Amino acid sequence: MIKKGIILAGGMGTRMSPLTKAVNKQLLPLYDKPLIFYPLSVLMLAGIKKILIIINKGQLNQFRKILPEKNNLGISIEYKEQLNPGGLPEAFTIGEKFIGKESIALILGDNFFYGQSLTKILKKNINLKNGAKIFIHPVKNPHLYGVATLNKNKKVINLIEKPKKIKSNFAVTGLYFFDNKVIKFTKKLKPSKRGELEIIDLLNVYKKKNELKAEFIGRGGSWLDTGSISDFYDASNFISAIENRQGLKIACLEEIALNNKWINFKNIKNSLVFYGNCEYSKYLKSLIR
Ligand code: G1P
Repeated sequence: MIKKGIILAGGMGTRMSPLTKAVNKQLLPLYDKPLIFYPLSVLMLAGIKKILIIINKGQLNQFRKILPEKNNLGISIEYKEQLNPGGLPEAFTIGEKFIGKESIALILGDNFFYGQSLTKILKKNINLKNGAKIFIHPVKNPHLYGVATLNKNKKVINLIEKPKKIKSNFAVTGLYFFDNKVIKFTKKLKPSKRGELEIIDLLNVYKKKNELKAEFIGRGGSWLDTGSISDFYDASNFISAIENRQGLKIACLEEIALNNKWINFKNIKNSLVFYGNCEYSKYLKSLIR
């Protein structure tokens, strides 16, 4: 059972704009709430209550201003700084103490997941004891992502980062479940040509040992990587369209915590004070009405 999760919210945003050098992209609003709410909501939907957020140096105060503390989300949040971003697998060495002897979920801070099948898929895979699990989704532009090729039995036979020649349209999304060996394997990785540790190299270690499994996020689920400006705004429009049609919010942290029975109305009232007068607060008020 995976009980802990890491959100990698540092060292990214290079494809966004010069602004992200000063302000962490995860703090920017993706439609009506900060981007960090979305990956955090995925971990909470999976039932994960112990969270480590890895951030850029010097940005701790900014995060504390947007995420309620004093347990009003029914979870614990720790922060650690990534001093010189050296690739995604660094999450496991920076987070070594936090992980301890347990399995771990990793989600990239700029990944957006949505869909009814999502919680089901998360719950189905959260019991992972051995090996690693990736979540794959078809895309039109696989050359931008890590790509998995599967055989007829849905076994991963090839994994490659940003391939020039496209053999498969299954992107490896930024959500990963790992057993505790991930720390040991990360320490043995060597930087790639672009000078970073690569998550695909780490996954290939598991694949070679026959310990890598893939789960499809089916057509009923959506996955967006908000890495580029156009993707960021596409995601924003998507959220706006769904929320305004349904009157329900995507990634409302308090609503998920309430459904999980981790918090009560009093916590939501505390959150209302914390967020102040905004659209998100209006929705929170409707939950306790
Ligand atoms: C990273 C990973 C890639 C994965 C993607 C998902 O790429 O290296 O394997 O498919 O996240 O968002 P990046 O977005 O850092 O280029």
